[in-house]
Parts: sequence; C-alpha cells; structure tokens
Amino acid sequence: MIKFIPISRMYDIVKEQYYSCLDEVYREDNQFEGTYCKKSEQKLQDITGRKHALLVTSGTAGILAMLLAQGVKPGDEVICINYSCPATVMPIKVLGANPVFVDIDRHGQMDLSNVKSKITDRTTAILTTGLYGDTFDYDAIKDIGIPILNDSAQSVFNKYKGQENTKLGRMSILSFSTNKNIPVFGTYGAVFTDDDQLAKDLYVIRRNGYLNRDVGNAITHIGFNAQPHADKSAQLYCSLQHAEQFQKRREEIANYYHKELAKQEISIRPSPAYSKSNNHKFTILVDNKFSFRDRMKNEGVETQLHYTYNFAKAPVFSHAVGSFPYTDLYVRHAISIPCSPWHTDAEIETVVDAIKKSATKGDKNVQI
Ligand SMILES: Cc1ncc(COP(=O)(O)O)c(C=O)c1O
Repeated sequence: MIKFIPISRMYDIVKEQYYSCLDEVYREDNQFEGTYCKKSEQKLQDITGRKHALLVTSGTAGILAMLLAQGVKPGDEVICINYSCPATVMPIKVLGANPVFVDIDRHGQMDLSNVKSKITDRTTAILTTGLYGDTFDYDAIKDIGIPILNDSAQSVFNKYKGQENTKLGRMSILSFSTNKNIPVFGTYGAVFTDDDQLAKDLYVIRRNGYLNRDVGNAITHIGFNAQPHADKSAQLYCSLQHAEQFQKRREEIANYYHKELAKQEISIRPSPAYSKSNNHKFTILVDNKFSFRDRMKNEGVETQLHYTYNFAKAPVFSHAVGSFPYTDLYVRHAISIPCSPWHTDAEIETVVDAIKKSATKGDKNVQI
C-alpha cells in the first residue's frame, strides 16, 4: 500500500541530527522553552517575516491563544470558514463564542466577498483560513475594521500576491503536524504577530496566564498550558533544516501530477490567480470521492478525504444559518492523493496509474 504520508521516511532523514539535539536537550535541565525552542522561533521569524514567533503545543492551541489574545469571550461572534478540519472552529466554541460561517469558493478557499453582511455589533474577529496550500483573498477584507486572525496552519510558504501567507492578519498560526509542510512526529504549533504587546500577551497566555510565581499573585490573563517542550522543539528544528528541500520535492510531484492528470481529463482543484500554492495537498475532483477512495485502495493507494465536514450541519453548531453550496460540492468531490516529499518517482507513477484504473467516466472533467 502506498501510504498517504510515509512519515517514517522523514525519521531516516533527521534521526542522526535529532538524537544529537536530544542529548543536548536532556542535559540542559530545562524542559520547557530552551535552546531549540529559541532557535526554531528565530528560524520561523526568518521564514515568515514576522517580528514575533511563539511556539505552542499545536496549531489548535495557537488558534485558541490568538482568540484569547484578541479578547474573544462568551457570546461574541467570530466569522469563520464553514469547511476545514474541525480544529479551525472548535476553539471559538470552547470559549463560548459563536462561529458565523461563510462558504468556500470554487478554489476551496474562504469566500470573503460577502463578509460585510455577516458583521454585527458582536463580531470580534474574522478567523481566516487558507486550505490545500492556497489562500483566501486578503485584500477583500484588510480594511474592513475587524481584527483578522489568520489560521494559516497549512500555509507556510504559500504566497498571497507574492507575500508570505503567515504574514497576513493581526496574528497568525502554523501547525507542524505530521501532514504539514514542516512536520514533526505528532503535532506542534506556533503563533505569530508583529505587535510587541500582543507578543507579550501570547507569551503569558501560553503559560496559564501568569509570567512568574516569584512576583506574588501575578495572574494577568486567561491562559492555558501550551508551553513549548524542549524535545519537541528539537524535532521541529531538525525538520526546519530540510524545509526547502521538502518544498522542492512537493513542487516536482505536483508538476508531474498536473501534466499526467490533464491527459486523463481528471479535474484538479484550481488555485486562485492571486495565490502561489505551497502544494500542501494535491486534491482532485471526482464524481463520488467515497467510492473513488475505495477503488484507489484496491489499487494499493491510500488517499484522504479533505474534507467531509459541513460545519453548519453539525449538531454542535446548531445555531448556524444559511446554505453553503461550495461546501456541499467539496464534501462530495474533493479527494487528496499522495504528495509528500518522501514519495519516490515510482510510487507517484503508480498513483497516476491507479487513478487511470479507478476513474469511471463520471470521474472525468468534474466541474465546480
Ligand atoms: C486549517 C487547519 N487549522 C488548524 C489545524 C490544527 O493544527 P493541529 O493539528 O496542529 O492542532 C490544522 C491541522 O490539522 C489545519 O489544517
């Protein structure tokens, strides 16, 4: 079976350096933050162009930290995407605030063209999300007067009109989960801002709302434990050393798929003109992704169903109103095929061949 993400192959690439880092880490007598946390935060500042980068325990923790730093509280409304992984919207609910959903567009990106009509006097933030390696149209909302918090979990190295995606918004986040472009084993995350005060707030929020027990009763924020671990930071540091090379390989595979799948008349999720994809996912559109997934499995290829959720229809979001036609289309048609930096040429050729064998007439030229 060709796995969707053969992460054990990354282990082979980083293990020597990783064990040498761990030896330093465990002798440092400091298991939170520490040398590799600082080094990784510095490298992430360089990559994103952000003034501040703060590691946290996951991308989800990063979103929760951004919402807390923005002061989102019970009863507030946060405008957000209706289609993503649940991690995008759950932190809004956790805070007792209400997500106000907007649909995606034909590119699978958050449709911001009508956001103004969703704003009420309870709107405290717009939580933007880029999916599949592409991004939303930032210029459509940048002057709207509502703080933009950017869930750029999937978007490192994606460019919006030439600008690094993670640089967009008052704050932004990255996830380093195993399926991301800079992966660790498991997950990890970071929050970004250019604002000095917000960076101080985020630092305190990620350590349960207090800076230091030695200065007395100094609990200043609502926070939670998202403190960076020294050993996980070493994992991230090792992955960061290979990030450029991983990107190159993703691009090579994506270019090959574009060429070969066009010959087969398979529709590929389109990128918006303003976005340069980071090839985080390679997603095609077929008639019925659930049965296509099963046929691909029979051909020995694992695929993933990004995504199967229509948030507005989930019981936990029962307050949601409106219709979401592009969400419905993506839920039916969009399926991701293997595109990790560790797949071999032979495996990628096998994937193309498996698609040829699995695609029915109805799976060709699917239009959205
Ligand atoms: C768009 C998006 N937001 C948030 C997250 C959450 O990141 P994590 O899995 O690190 O908590 C992910 C990753 O799965 C994601 O893809």
